[in-house]
Amino acid sequence: MAVLITGGAGYIGSVTVDLLRARGEDVVVLDDVARGHRSAVDPDVPFYKGRTGDRALVARLLGERSIDACIHFAALAYVGESVSEPGRYYSNNMAEGLALIETLVAAGVKRFVFSSTCATYGEPEQVPIPESHPQWPVNPYGWSKLMLERVLSDFDHATGLKFVALRYFNAAGATAQRGEHHVPETHLIPLILDAAAGRRSHISIFGTDYPTPDGTAVRDYIHVSDLATAHLQALTHLRAGGASECINLGTGQGHSVLEVIETARRVTGRRIDAQREGRRAGDPARLIAVSDKARRVLGWEPQLGALATIVGSAWEWKLAHPEGYPN
Ligand SMILES: NC(=O)c1ccc[n+]([C@@H]2O[C@H](COP(=O)([O-])OP(=O)(O)OC[C@H]3O[C@@H](n4cnc5c(N)ncnc54)[C@H](O)[C@@H]3O)[C@@H](O)[C@H]2O)c1
Repeated sequence: MAVLITGGAGYIGSVTVDLLRARGEDVVVLDDVARGHRSAVDPDVPFYKGRTGDRALVARLLGERSIDACIHFAALAYVGESVSEPGRYYSNNMAEGLALIETLVAAGVKRFVFSSTCATYGEPEQVPIPESHPQWPVNPYGWSKLMLERVLSDFDHATGLKFVALRYFNAAGATAQRGEHHVPETHLIPLILDAAAGRRSHISIFGTDYPTPDGTAVRDYIHVSDLATAHLQALTHLRAGGASECINLGTGQGHSVLEVIETARRVTGRRIDAQREGRRAGDPARLIAVSDKARRVLGWEPQLGALATIVGSAWEWKLAHPEGYPN
């Protein structure tokens, strides 16, 4: 049996494809490559170029391949874009996600691992954030993810679909083969490393008056390989007959923007100019996970959690792939 990986040509998906294959799993990728890279997936992996909402294509794929589970990464994931183009986000992430789930269930595939996000919590009332924290997103991206969590829960009750929704905090880092190449890039670490590589003049720090030790925003960074491992463990949980679960993925450690920049200066040995700017709307001061549940339910333990390891791996990848993936 093979695992269907939607969004397998994207950043986290491509690392997970590699990990599953290294562990002896057969995988099939479905990706429209609008935001990903065909070359991020080895040529011998079965690859269907198309959309999760294309019911005919997904039904054909399920007829051609023997699939026992789906890991669903495919989504649009820019918060700002979701605010200016909400329809696109509800359509791509929610409606196409629903179509995918219906097509899978109709074909008898009832194990589903979902890329959810800490953005489903909205402005946190308490930090670190446990899974039981109220979910009230502050942008359409977060809502589109929360709605799909709701869909999954309702399908569990109605059809017995079992799912693990993994609420990632900040994915970062790289493997030797795969790294982060988003166009445009909005994530802090690749932007800082672009400044280190001389590909941008400076890094902007949005907000220096937060109630944090150095005044800059604090986030919980998790290495993309550790994230990928959690997906494999979620599959194992579901294959063993485990219950549906929503689980945070973070290390439980927070790092400020200034700390990340300092670490990058140390790791790269390069000059990185930083410019202080005002806060961005909707950016909470601190986002840190309570990560006990992943440890308890999945047996997950981050192996590459040190910030210098995360930044160092991303830098290695950038040095080896200065232009990112070829077009
Ligand atoms: N990167 C993070 O820090 C982070 C944090 C929380 C949650 N997430 C979630 O994790 C998932 C993966 O994130 P990423 O950073 O790897 O994103 P990415 O943009 O690199 O990868 C997403 C992939 O999905 C594809 N895709 C999007 N919509 C599609 C559709 N309807 N049909 C087929 N393919 C489609 C894109 O072309 C792309 O290859 C996303 O669901 C994202 O919301 C990411």
